[in-house]
Amino acid sequence: MTNVVICGANGMMGKTVANCISKRDNCKVVAGIDINTTQYSDFPIYSSPKDLSESPDVIIDYSNPNTLDDLLEYCLVTGTAVVLATTGYSDEQIAKIKKTSEQIPVFFTFNMSLGINLMVELAKKAALVLGDRFDIEIIEKHHNLKIDAPSGTALMLANAINEVYDNSLQFIYDRHSHRKKRDKKEIGIHAVRGGTIVGEHEVIFAGSDEVITISHSAASKTVFAEGSINAAIFLKGKQAGLYDMSNLV
Ligand SMILES: NC(=O)c1ccc[n+]([C@@H]2O[C@H](COP(=O)([O-])OP(=O)(O)OC[C@H]3O[C@@H](n4cnc5c(N)ncnc54)[C@H](O)[C@@H]3O)[C@@H](O)[C@H]2O)c1
Repeated sequence: MTNVVICGANGMMGKTVANCISKRDNCKVVAGIDINTTQYSDFPIYSSPKDLSESPDVIIDYSNPNTLDDLLEYCLVTGTAVVLATTGYSDEQIAKIKKTSEQIPVFFTFNMSLGINLMVELAKKAALVLGDRFDIEIIEKHHNLKIDAPSGTALMLANAINEVYDNSLQFIYDRHSHRKKRDKKEIGIHAVRGGTIVGEHEVIFAGSDEVITISHSAASKTVFAEGSINAAIFLKGKQAGLYDMSNLV
């Protein structure tokens, strides 16, 4: 049995994770953390990790980047493993996550779905084969409540492709402030926000007279919730280290 605390328990993802765990018999939610402490299930919800009286095996975090410091401090002091699924972290915060993983098990990915992680591998392969003859553009679409833009997943795709080109490409976000022809050495990244779109990502390789598009569409938040629960179960009892979807697939 893996005992889980959900950070961001009252959010859309937090509630989806709680609902998915309620259908499993190998893990259990023992408490939640959220600035909104309204209780909606049989587990208590605290406003901060330091108030937890339960001792979880793993914390699954779908909250906000501003929870990171308190969360990592709690996990370091108690030796608790953590699945960080929140997006929008700064470079400094990402460095802190990596440093913390030297002392506790940390699972960190911008996207918890198996399909997106396969898409990253496909995009890398396409970049390798197509070389610099094709222009690369990434389009992501999400619901109108999403705070960060572009999505962490769009950046994950862009970074993975850029690695293939020895990080020589520049990211251009939207194009309204660039009144000039597209440069070869760039990846265009575009964010669309509207309605209840769960998450759509498209990588376009546009060449001379041919276009290759790799796309992924998530139909529900369950895809991400199930991925993070699998990550939590995987993480229980692991040694300190930084883990991601490549350890799960
Ligand atoms: N990695 C993935 O696969 C994946 C998938 C979906 C969403 N996300 C990310 O997960 C995060 C949450 O998404 P959501 O759609 O559930 O958002 P949401 O706004 O519905 O939920 C966030 C919850 O966190 C709580 N919260 C905010 N600040 C807090 C704080 N300081 N302490 C405690 N609780 C706090 C809010 O009260 C809210 O209940 C976002 O960053 C989103 O981009 C990641």
